[in-house]
Amino acid sequence: MSIPPAAEAASNRPGVAAQAARRRTFAIISHPDAGKTTLTENLLLAGGAIRAAGAVRARGENRRTRSDWMKIERERGISVSASVMTFDHDGLMFNLLDTPGHEDFSEDTYRTLTAADAAVMVLDAAKGIEPQTLKLFEVCRMRDIPIVTFINKMDREAQDPFELLDEIASKLALDPAPLYWPAGSGGRFKGMLDLRRQQFLPFAKKGGGPAHDEDGHPDAIAFKGNAVVSYLEPDEHEELAENAELVTEAAKPFDPQSFLEGHMTPVFFGSALRHFGVAQLLEGIGAYAPPPKPVAARRGGDETHVAPGDREVSGFVFKVQANMDPNHRDRIAFLKLCSGRFARGMKLKVQNTGKQLSVNAPVMFFASDRELAEDAYAGDVIGIPNHGVLRVGDSLSESGTLRFAGLPNFAPEILQRVRVKDPLKAKHLKKALESLAEEGVTQLFRPNMGSDFIVGAVGQLQFEVMADRLREEYQLDVIFEASPFAEARWLTADRADLEDFTGKHRTAMATDIDEQPVFLGKSAWEVNYVTERFPKVRFERAKERA
Ligand code: G4P
Repeated sequence: MSIPPAAEAASNRPGVAAQAARRRTFAIISHPDAGKTTLTENLLLAGGAIRAAGAVRARGENRRTRSDWMKIERERGISVSASVMTFDHDGLMFNLLDTPGHEDFSEDTYRTLTAADAAVMVLDAAKGIEPQTLKLFEVCRMRDIPIVTFINKMDREAQDPFELLDEIASKLALDPAPLYWPAGSGGRFKGMLDLRRQQFLPFAKKGGGPAHDEDGHPDAIAFKGNAVVSYLEPDEHEELAENAELVTEAAKPFDPQSFLEGHMTPVFFGSALRHFGVAQLLEGIGAYAPPPKPVAARRGGDETHVAPGDREVSGFVFKVQANMDPNHRDRIAFLKLCSGRFARGMKLKVQNTGKQLSVNAPVMFFASDRELAEDAYAGDVIGIPNHGVLRVGDSLSESGTLRFAGLPNFAPEILQRVRVKDPLKAKHLKKALESLAEEGVTQLFRPNMGSDFIVGAVGQLQFEVMADRLREEYQLDVIFEASPFAEARWLTADRADLEDFTGKHRTAMATDIDEQPVFLGKSAWEVNYVTERFPKVRFERAKERA
């Protein structure tokens, strides 16, 4: 389905590389309550993807009434599922990946971040860097994802912005480069100065608000001109001018290269709730966040790099979501495209299984609704409905020979035994557990002795979500109870060493859904003990699917 260069030129269609270059695929990271949902909504509003704030939630509600497996999400007021929203704005195609805010879903977030080319870190101006922000930041750093900072809730009493910058520098070892500077905060928040253009952006107390379609804030005006007196008292003007001078001297100037290398973060200020500073943030993402980069991969036994402009279509699955619509038992695999021009109906091969699938009904998630994707390019995320063929970490390409580095599974932090109340449904339970484990959010271990299933997760909330989903989607009432195990480790060793170890620890051995051997330890101490006693066996905390 790839278009020959001549035809491409004839149809005046921008080339594959040029299309990829206009993609901005990013995620928002924050501590719960810092304003991620509000900012998401207002970015979509600023990008023209939705017309009124409140639409993201309304859409969420709609989805939930169609498929109410998100009851817990609703009851707890947390966002459990990660999704993607796409919008075209200012000549660029933005793909906003939504990440769950709750730390029990950090593995899901981690995987989503593997698909992001940049991240927006939202800080609550009164709280600065909070524990979950720090954790997510570390994931971004591990993956060299450049970070844009948005200091939110300036309409509330905030910390001194200089202190906030110091915190970014000291806690994250990142050079903050403010592009704007706020005038006051809370009741005294008057707006902000665009440090590059020397323009003042007034904040109207009555502007914004959830019910407003327009931002309602006055237009930017020259900071040095006379008009500014209508917005700033003389002492406020003086203070802002002084602070701007100070910060311009003290902070390193914004260097796009340093940002791309992960050493510097451009800092924006605003109030997501009041629609203030969000358009500037979006402009900044468009201007500075990178388009998709070449990705390291293997073809056959050889290492290679897949460039976004390459002709062959390729990508990897970073998330699988089952039963978005329980009436259809559908399962959507989210594929981040790494190269080529994907066209609907195209055949792609899964690298590790060699299976070929015709992608006839790919979905792109535009903010307003799901739509069929006719074509897509590197950076885009398409949803591929399937019946269990695709798994998290799968690499897809036209030739089927490309393999991107796998997405790791981490050793779970809590292991629980699961039982179904009606023993006649044990077989049914096995299928349901496997299907949920294939989404990659929870892990399933089948002990070699006995008939129990052990489910592993990062946090308690995942068990609750799982119980709820088993009831809603599979009509299975289950009980999770304490298991004797506290730690899981994947084992790798020569066959003889593995058999020796397994023979001596029969009651602690299990297999995961890929039939790989797993040691279930009763404590961290026991894991250390066996690790020392069996030096030829490797006890891995993370597993990459082969
Ligand atoms: P999260 O997704 O990061 O968890 O945060 P969310 O957007 O849900 O925001 C958390 C709370 O902070 C919400 O208030 C939201 O309205 C408020 N908020 C977000 N941005 C701003 C801002 O710029 N200024 C002010 N003043 N508040 C902001 P809530 O009362 O918990 O919820 P709701 O009843 O308003 O929905």
